[in-house]
Amino acid sequence: MRIILLGPPGAGKGTQAQSISNKYAIPHVSTGDIFRKNISGGTELGVLAKSYMDKGLLVPDTVTIDLVKNRLKEEDTKNGFLLDGFPRTINQADVLEELLNQDGKKIDVALLITVPREFIIQRMTGRRVCQNCGASYHLEFNPPMQKDTCDDCGSELIQRKDDSRETVEERLEIYDFQTLPLIDYYTRKGILKSVDGTQAINEVFNDINDILGGIH
Ligand code: AP5
Ligand code: ZN
Repeated sequence: MRIILLGPPGAGKGTQAQSISNKYAIPHVSTGDIFRKNISGGTELGVLAKSYMDKGLLVPDTVTIDLVKNRLKEEDTKNGFLLDGFPRTINQADVLEELLNQDGKKIDVALLITVPREFIIQRMTGRRVCQNCGASYHLEFNPPMQKDTCDDCGSELIQRKDDSRETVEERLEIYDFQTLPLIDYYTRKGILKSVDGTQAINEVFNDINDILGGIH
């Protein structure tokens, strides 16, 4: 199965991606996580990505597209994947479609997690992420079992630099301007499905399961 996750910052894409990836045994490909790994590893790509991410801006398409092209050449993504945070522009979506077309493949579903603005700031400022595996927690809505420690891998939880109120507001503007057009794009292709992301985490996952269960 080939799935795209869409939704504004803080919609719960990363949270749901972990459960989907486990249940359907498909790799979770998050461009944000790949950039963050490069930042903590001090790579050239990390230095470049950080200069955009810290301001809430998109990393340039050329860089991001090359990264995804290379990731989708790896063996584990041959029979399916879950893309989280990509595509984020119409150009990225066109390139992805072309890339898959070359191999006679296609996206099965673009899953949109909808969450109104008023929920987002609270979700982002309370978020804590694992700096090792990328797992996402929330101080109030999804707390780890042990304070500041990842349930999955035991590493330390940190606050993302781009989760300050000011940067989140910038990211939301960028989302409206550059990423929102993808909703129309995938609606026209007949593969857009929406779930209400304001429900509890397990309820959102149930709705996603209902949708994915209907695809082959
Ligand atoms: P990225 O890491 O992709 O960030 P994002 O899309 O802004 O999404 P988030 O990770 O902030 O939110 P999420 O929807 O995953 O929410 P989460 O599950 O954590 O990108 C970061 C940056 O990288 C971009 O700004 C850009 O610079 C760059 N980048 C990445 N991809 C790019 C691309 N393709 N092109 C160019 N640049 C790119 O949940 C949020 C919080 O809410 C958590 O605390 C969680 O515990 C909680 N929560 C989740 N679900 C619920 C629920 N149902 N109820 C209550 N709380 C919930
Ligand atoms: Zn972890």
